[in-house]
Amino acid sequence: MVSTGRNIVVGIGGGIAAYKACQIIRLFKEQGDNVIAVPTAHALAFVGKPTFEALSGSPVSSSVFDAVDEVRHVRVGKEADLIVIAPATADLIARIAMGRADDLLTATVLVATCPIVIAPAMHTEMWYNAATQANVATLRSRGITVLEPAHGRLTGSDTGAGRLLDPEQIVEYAEMIVSHGPVKQDLAGKNILITAGGTREALDPVRFIGNHSSGRQGFALAEAASQMGAKVFIVAGAVDALPTPSGAEVIRIGSAQDLYGEVMRLAPEMDIVIMAAAVADFRPAQPGDAKMKKGTTSEAGLTNIAMVENPDILATLVQHRRDHKLPETLQIIGFAAETGDKHHTALEYAQAKLQKKQCDYLMCNEVGESKVFGRSDNQGWLLARDGHVVQIHHGSKLEVAQQIFDTVMKDSTRVES
Ligand SMILES: Cc1cc2nc3c(=O)[nH]c(=O)nc-3n(C[C@H](O)[C@H](O)[C@H](O)COP(=O)(O)O)c2cc1C
Repeated sequence: MVSTGRNIVVGIGGGIAAYKACQIIRLFKEQGDNVIAVPTAHALAFVGKPTFEALSGSPVSSSVFDAVDEVRHVRVGKEADLIVIAPATADLIARIAMGRADDLLTATVLVATCPIVIAPAMHTEMWYNAATQANVATLRSRGITVLEPAHGRLTGSDTGAGRLLDPEQIVEYAEMIVSHGPVKQDLAGKNILITAGGTREALDPVRFIGNHSSGRQGFALAEAASQMGAKVFIVAGAVDALPTPSGAEVIRIGSAQDLYGEVMRLAPEMDIVIMAAAVADFRPAQPGDAKMKKGTTSEAGLTNIAMVENPDILATLVQHRRDHKLPETLQIIGFAAETGDKHHTALEYAQAKLQKKQCDYLMCNEVGESKVFGRSDNQGWLLARDGHVVQIHHGSKLEVAQQIFDTVMKDSTRVES
């Protein structure tokens, strides 16, 4: 494996999710990084030192008094290119916020000048406690990224906010922070509705016409928005098995008409609506009441399935805003999965679509074989209504989501100032 030459410190707090740090270490090692695991003494009560040493391939210590000849309490932090702390307990977050250095991990954080990403994990009450929230705010104000924890099953029978994000999500965020800088709470106080996945248009009670959308880009937008402080609502059609973005409310739908109903119900309360779902343009006019049986359906019934057009949700949102049925300040962002042909490029088709739809932004991806659908990466252009086009650079769908929000937020501050 080719070494990246990067030194990644994986800090581990004494929480029940400490075992998930093993997977984080593994993910960095698999991409060629040099990993130094720094568990706290309490973390070692959950996962043994040999596990961290074997997975990282480096000696492990928790105390500043181990390997004193190497001056480890300073060296590890100075040599780090990235520090990822997962899980971070309430206690560890408090100690870092206080600037304490009573073990190797806190001393390392105090010395480091590299990006630091903290993924908390604790019970909901501990997470929402004013002391923890104040500590988190302090760390964020110092440029440290404290990720919002996921909602879900906690230790015991509880569920709620406080679950550690999946190791893959943490590593993805860490990489994004290395390339784009700390996540800022630019969307705090905003309500954002994101549609994701594909719709299913019934042919009969068991069959449907669907599409290849995986919902990954919509869910990545939701995760990015949540991490930037927004309250996020997802209206999701058929999607891959994806973790629920932190704190997001997910409303499941089947058909384009269901999606239309949910978007129209929620839109009046929103600041931004992003239509990232792959909504069917047409649906069978008369889905069968009973399953179409092989050998008994007439030839005409098989060769001709009458279709009708579904409502144009993006256009309806724009029209409702124009008619003052929706707030004037509502920002409407569409997605266009385009293919180029011998007449026009995908971008030209997207520009024509934006002219027609008149939404505030249109994110254009070029789709086709092995492009976009079901993949974890993306790229394209973000077209603004005023005509300017921002190139969205190739990256993970999370990075693409971040670039979209960064552009929208930059434009809105430009308009306000
Ligand atoms: C079984 C068990 C599970 C725990 N899980 C968590 C947890 O998930 N999050 C947390 O903040 N504290 C948790 N604690 C409490 C911490 O272990 C305790 O606050 C400790 O001082 C944290 O040490 P640290 O500085 O190594 O993180 C747990 C304790 C026990 C006994």
